[in-house]
Amino acid sequence: MQNILWGGATSASQYEGWGTRKGLDTQDVRPYLPRTSVATTATRLLTRDNVLSALTPDSDSNYPFRRGAQGIEHTDEDLDLLEELGLQIYRLSISWSRLFPTGTEETPDLEGIAYYDHIFRRLNRAGIKIFVTMNHYALPVELVLSQGGWTNRKTILHYLRFARTVLEHWGDLVDYWLPFNEINAGYFSPFNGLGVLRKEDGSYDYNQIFRALHHQFVASAKTIQLGRQLGIKGQFGSMIACFCYYPLTPKPEDNLKLVLDEQINQWFCMDVLSKGYYPYYMKRFFAQHQVDLAETTEDLELLAAYTCDFVSFSYYSSSIVTTEESGQQQAGNLVATHKNPYLKASDWGWQIDPTGLQTTLHKVYDRYNKPVIISENGFGAHDQLTADGKIHDDYRIDYFAKHFAAIKQAAAEGVDLRAYMAWGIIDIVSAGSCEMDKRYGVIYVDADNVGNGSYARYKKDSFHWYRNFLQQNR
Ligand code: BG6
Repeated sequence: MQNILWGGATSASQYEGWGTRKGLDTQDVRPYLPRTSVATTATRLLTRDNVLSALTPDSDSNYPFRRGAQGIEHTDEDLDLLEELGLQIYRLSISWSRLFPTGTEETPDLEGIAYYDHIFRRLNRAGIKIFVTMNHYALPVELVLSQGGWTNRKTILHYLRFARTVLEHWGDLVDYWLPFNEINAGYFSPFNGLGVLRKEDGSYDYNQIFRALHHQFVASAKTIQLGRQLGIKGQFGSMIACFCYYPLTPKPEDNLKLVLDEQINQWFCMDVLSKGYYPYYMKRFFAQHQVDLAETTEDLELLAAYTCDFVSFSYYSSSIVTTEESGQQQAGNLVATHKNPYLKASDWGWQIDPTGLQTTLHKVYDRYNKPVIISENGFGAHDQLTADGKIHDDYRIDYFAKHFAAIKQAAAEGVDLRAYMAWGIIDIVSAGSCEMDKRYGVIYVDADNVGNGSYARYKKDSFHWYRNFLQQNR
C-alpha cells in the first residue's frame, strides 16, 4: 500500500490579506453579506456594477478577503506552528495579482517573488512537501473589467506568463502542481472560477461559461507542456469538487438523473483534463444549449498531449439527486442539495458522510486510474475561544477521525492515494460566504466577520489530536 502524506491547505486570497503590495483580484471585491438562505450566492455571483462599486468602497463596506487571516503579517509564526504540528505536506496557492497586479505586466513584482521564495525555502528546510495551486479562484480584477476574464482567449497568454514565472522560480522546490483549484466550480460559481460577470437580469450566458472553461483547459495543458519543456520535477494535476451523489429513491428515473447530473456537475472537467478529450455527453449538452466553444485543432491536440499526472478533488459532504420537485433543500459546497435522513449536518447544513468519501475515492480512481490526492476536506464550524485560550473542538476531531478511517479503508481496498490535505488548516475567510466564523482550522485565528480581533493564533484541541495522528502516520 502506498504511503499517504497527511497535510493541510490554505489559499492565498483566504489566508494572506493584502499586506503591502498587491493588485485587486476577484475575491477582494466580494463583500461580506449576512447569510439569508441555504445557498449563499449574493456575494459569489457579481455583476459589473457590483465590481465597479467595490473599487471605491464606502466606509460601511466590508471586504474580508482584503484582510484574510492576516497571513502576511503572521507568516513565520504560522510556518512555525505547521512545523510543530508535524505537517507532511502543505498546499498553498500563489496570488496572481501579488505577482502581476493587473495581470498584464511583463515582469513580476519582486516583493511578491520574495514573499513566496521565503515560504518555499522554509518549507523545504522543514522537510514539508509542497503542493502549489497556481490559481485558486482569484483573478486580477482588471482582466475581468477590461477583457471579460476567462471568456477572452488572451487570458491564456497572461496566465501562461504568470505560470512561467512560478515554474521558473520554484520549479526545483515544489512536489505537486495544480494549475486550477476546483475547475468545475466555474460552472456553479462563474465569477469566482472564471471571472465571468452575472448579467443585470441575474442570468448567465452558457456560451461564455463553457468558452471560459475551455480556455482554462487549454491553459492547464499549456502549463503542463511548459513544465515538461522546463524539465520541472514535480507532478502536474487537475482538481474537481466532488459531491458524492445518491438518488433520493430507488426510482429508476432518480438514478438516471444522478448519472446525468454527475456527468455535467462533477466529471466533465476532469474527463477533459485527465483523458484528453471532450466526453460524448458534452457534445449533446452543447448542442442542447447552443454552445459553440470556438475550439481550434491546436487546442484539441494540446488537450490530448498534455493530460494530468494525478487527479485530485475536494470533498466535504454528499448530495442527493431527485426528480421530485418537493425534496427538502439542504446546503452543500457550491450547490444546494436535499436532506439525507441518514446523515447529520454541520451548522452550515453540509451533511457529514465519511462513507461518501470512501465511495468517492473508489469512483475517482476507477474512472481515471491515476494517482489520487484529496486536496481538500474538513469541517467548517463555529468555535469558541475560552478565557484560558483553549478551543475544545471535539466535533472536528470526530469528523477527522471518521474521515481518516474511511480514507485508510479505501487505500487498503486498493485506491492509489498519495496525499490528504485538511482544508483551512489555519482559520481563514470562507470562500463561499466570506465569513470568518466558519472555521476549519486546527489553529484558531482571533478575528470575526467584520475584522474585529487581535488575529492572534491559538492551538485548538484538534491541533494536538492531529499532531499525534501525524506522528503515528509517517
Ligand atoms: C472549496 C474551495 O470549494 O471549499 C475553498 O476550494 C473553500 O476555497 C472550501 O474555502 C470550503 O468552502 P467554504 O465556503 O466553507 O469556505
